[in-house]
Amino acid sequence: VLGFLSVTLFFLLSFGREAEVSASQEAYEDVQWTSDSNSHPPWLRFHLNISRWQLYLHRDPNMEPLTQQLATHRIVSAVQKSGGTQLKLVMSFPNYGQAMLKPMKQERDEETNYNLYYFSDFERHNAEIAAFHLDRILGYRRVPPVAGRLVDVVKEIKDITTDRKLARTFFTSPVGNVCFYGQCSYYCSTEHAVCGRPRHLEASLAVMLPDLSLASRRTWRSPWRRSYSRSKLAKWETEPDYCSTVKKTPPYDKGTRLVDFMDMVILDFLMGNMDRHHYETFEKFGNNTFLLHLDNGRAFGRHSKDEPSILAPLEQCCRIRRSTWLRLRLLSLPQYRLSDVMRASLFSDPLHRVAPLLSEPHLASDCCSRNYQQSVQVSLLINLKERLCNLISIWQS
Ligand SMILES: *[C@@H]1O[C@H](CO)[C@@H](O)[C@H](O)[C@H]1NC(C)=O
Ligand SMILES: *[C@@H]1O[C@H](CO)[C@@H](O)[C@H](O)[C@H]1NC(C)=O
Repeated sequence: VLGFLSVTLFFLLSFGREAEVSASQEAYEDVQWTSDSNSHPPWLRFHLNISRWQLYLHRDPNMEPLTQQLATHRIVSAVQKSGGTQLKLVMSFPNYGQAMLKPMKQERDEETNYNLYYFSDFERHNAEIAAFHLDRILGYRRVPPVAGRLVDVVKEIKDITTDRKLARTFFTSPVGNVCFYGQCSYYCSTEHAVCGRPRHLEASLAVMLPDLSLASRRTWRSPWRRSYSRSKLAKWETEPDYCSTVKKTPPYDKGTRLVDFMDMVILDFLMGNMDRHHYETFEKFGNNTFLLHLDNGRAFGRHSKDEPSILAPLEQCCRIRRSTWLRLRLLSLPQYRLSDVMRASLFSDPLHRVAPLLSEPHLASDCCSRNYQQSVQVSLLINLKERLCNLISIWQS
C-alpha cells in the first residue's frame, strides 16, 4: 500500500489540509486519529489502502461509509478547482475529507450533438457516476469512488464559499432558479450556467486522491490519442502496423502496461469515451502498476451509436488480459448481463431516487447490452477474439 500514514497524519495535524480549505476552523471536527485505522474517517482509510494494483479492495468494507459520506456529509467549504477546462468545485467535509464536484449540465436522455467534436463535449455528472460503477463491475477498481448528490446551491455553495470569483457568478434566472457559472475556459458563461431547481442541483462527488505532495503522479500520453484537430489524423489512424511500434516502446514493451492499457480501452469503448488523451499512475509504484481511470465526464454521450474506433488499440494489438476476457464473457451470460448488473449497481446511488442515472436507451445499448448477444460492443469483442486473436497471448497478471 502507499503507506502514507505517518506523513498524512503529520501533514494534517500540522497544517490543516491544503490552502484550498479555507472555511473557518470551527466548521471542522477536532482530529483524534491514531495509528488505529478504526479512528480514521473513511476517506483516510481509502487513501491509506491504495495499493500498487488497485484503488480499493474487492468487497471493500470501507466503500459503503465512504460513498455515504460523499452523498450526505455536511459541506463546510466549496471552491473552484483551478486548471480544468470546465467548471469543477472542491468540496470539503468536517472531517477534512474532500471531493470533486461536477454539476449536471445536460438532461440524461440528451445525446451529444453529432456536429460537436469530442473535445468540446460537455462533461456529464452521471457519466462520472456510471463510470465508477462500470469500472468496478469490470473488476478494475481504478476509478476513485463517486456518489451522486442533490446539492443546495445556496446553502452548500454560495453561502459558504470563500471563492469570490465563484460567488460573483451567482444569479437568479427568470423563472426563479438559482444559477452560477464560475470561471473556466469552456462553458463558463451566463449562457451555460448551471441552475438549481429552484436551488437543488444534481452533481457527482468524487473522492479526492491523496494530495500530489504526498503521492505524486505521473502523466502518460496515450499512444492512441486522438489528434485533437479538426483536420489532422493521428498516426494510429493511418499506420496499419502502428501497434508493433508501440509494443517495442517502453513502458509498453515490458510487464503489464499494454494489457492495462487495453483494459482502459475496453472501459472507454463500453461507455463511449473518446476523450482519453492521457492517463496517470502513482509515481511511487514505478511502471509496474495500475492505470488510474480519471475524468470520465465525456463518456455516455451517445446511446444510439457505438464508436468502434475506440477499440482500435485492441484490434491493432490483439492483446487482452485473461481476467478481463473472462470477466467480459461472464458479463455476457444471461444471468449476469452487463446492462442488468449496471442497472442494479446504479440503483444504489442516492441520485437514483431523483431519476435513473443512465437513461434506458443507454443501458440497453451504449453502455452495455444491446440485448446482450447482439450487443454490437460485446460481439465486436468476441469477433475480435475469434477472428484475429488466435494470437492473443494469455497474460498472467
Ligand atoms: C486495507 O487492506 C487490507 C488488505 O490489503 C484489509 O485487510 C484491511 O481491512 C483494509 N483496511 C481498511 C481500513 O480498509
Ligand atoms: C518507466 O518507463 C519510463 C518510460 O518508458 C522509463 O523511462 C523508465 O526508465 C521506466 N522506469 C523503470 C523503473 O523501469
